[in-house]
Amino acid sequence: MRDAPIGVFDSGVGGLSVLAEIQRLLPNESLLYVADCGNIPYGEKSAEFIRQRCQVMAGFFQRQGAKALVLACNTATVAGVADLRRDYPDWPLVGMEPAVKPAAAATRSGVVGVLATTGTLQSAKFAALLDRFATDVRVITQPCPGLVELIEAGDLHSPVLRELLRGYVEPLLAAGCDTIILGCTHYPFLKPLLKQMIPDAISLIDTGAAVARQLQRLLAERELLAEGPARATRFWSSADPQHLSAILPLLWNGPGEVGTFDL
Ligand code: DGL
Repeated sequence: MRDAPIGVFDSGVGGLSVLAEIQRLLPNESLLYVADCGNIPYGEKSAEFIRQRCQVMAGFFQRQGAKALVLACNTATVAGVADLRRDYPDWPLVGMEPAVKPAAAATRSGVVGVLATTGTLQSAKFAALLDRFATDVRVITQPCPGLVELIEAGDLHSPVLRELLRGYVEPLLAAGCDTIILGCTHYPFLKPLLKQMIPDAISLIDTGAAVARQLQRLLAERELLAEGPARATRFWSSADPQHLSAILPLLWNGPGEVGTFDL
């Protein structure tokens, strides 16, 4: 059981930013990754649809014998993690949530920006997060339609992407944010571009590393940490696997066989 793999999924390639943190912290673990690219973007889909996709993913990773599941997607987590926790009470599950708590603790200007999907920002779970941790700071939320599709096409710095991103970031700068939360797992891939657009004093916060630490804690508590060596990471895409194979080298530092996910 210790050497069983860990299942990780996202609507597409965004979760690879989390997968990289997991691999860095837990190099002995064997990892399985599903990119639900056929259903991108989750951020503009109904919560009910995303809940169903979460169930499909959970069923798949159970059949693969995964010892833990990571929802490497903020949008999937707000929609689906509660149902999965109910349905799989003994399975270590880790979800993502925008880093509101650390951002509220870190801000000096008292203004925090959040870049995330429409689905995440409109969710009750996000509202509860603000009520809990952001009562003393001003939070400016910015949905970012279109970014995920460009990243999925392997675009991390074209003029079109740059202009779209600038339009999303400028209102946050104008409002005096000194801390910007990257509340979608695709956005860490835009950090190099974002850093060119914002003053050095502004921090960008995401939760990939914290999720990897939480996974480590849950596995350690259950004596499930792998002794290694890890097997090669396996990937699946619900769209054309050749497209994922083609853009993988841009986003993932390692080899990757991509299979078809047809559930
Ligand atoms: N990467 C996902 C997230 O963290 C969502 C992207 C999408 O809209 O599909 O929210």
